[in-house]
Amino acid sequence: MTRIIQISDPHIVPNGQLAYGQVDTAAALASCVKTVNRLLPEIGPVDLAIVTGDITDFGTKEEYQLFHEIMEPLKLPYRAIPGNHDNVVNMRACFSDQSWMPSTGPINWTIEFDDLVLIALDSSIPGQAHGHLSEETLSFLVNTLERQNGLPALVALHHPPITTGIEKMDIQNLRDSAKLEAILSGYPGELRLICGHVHRNIVAPFGSKICQIAPGVSHAVSMDLRPNAPNCLTKEPGGVLLHETRAGIVTHHIPTGQFPGPFLFYPDG
Ligand SMILES: [Fe+2]
Ligand SMILES: [Fe+2]
Repeated sequence: MTRIIQISDPHIVPNGQLAYGQVDTAAALASCVKTVNRLLPEIGPVDLAIVTGDITDFGTKEEYQLFHEIMEPLKLPYRAIPGNHDNVVNMRACFSDQSWMPSTGPINWTIEFDDLVLIALDSSIPGQAHGHLSEETLSFLVNTLERQNGLPALVALHHPPITTGIEKMDIQNLRDSAKLEAILSGYPGELRLICGHVHRNIVAPFGSKICQIAPGVSHAVSMDLRPNAPNCLTKEPGGVLLHETRAGIVTHHIPTGQFPGPFLFYPDG
């Protein structure tokens, strides 16, 4: 069985600052690391953590360094892809010693396990909030899927190609997604698309496959489905996803932080 933890949208800001004047994103990521480490004996072994973009809020070297330091105690190897808040040049420099980080071009990578392949794609465009997959990235996806003989697959990218009803996020989703839909729908095996960006746990169909959006690790985008809703964040509990190959790909939502329990349902038997 392969298990992957998905951490999304940490939005690390310079040391001592609050994101949007409201959110201590460094504390939230540190709490996430603690939660995952604490739960590992109960949910593990876990093979890898993937951070699905918006690692930093402004894409600065200082923010990547702080992210790196906060993730250091995580008792798992991790890899990452960029989101619209990232800077590919600074992100590449921060992880240049990692074998998975390409030295040029989009930050695409793949890792093959016995019963699962994880394919991670760079959907970021410098200076833009919405996402796009380049021809190079789509070719990387096609070539990787062709080698798998229908092995269950997780395909990760920051920007979801679907709409959620949260208008201010939907206008920044993945554009030009028809080719991606055709590639994924044509894959003969089980395939799950996993994304970030919306900071909410949302599941929707994408062609013949399932698109799973992860919650943010700190703040959420407000649950407001009205037309012209204001662009707001909410300090809901952060969370991560655990994807595992059981009878098919099973996804669990794990809130991060410390909560009372566990308590036996029937302590007296
Ligand atoms: Fe984000
Ligand atoms: Fe984003």
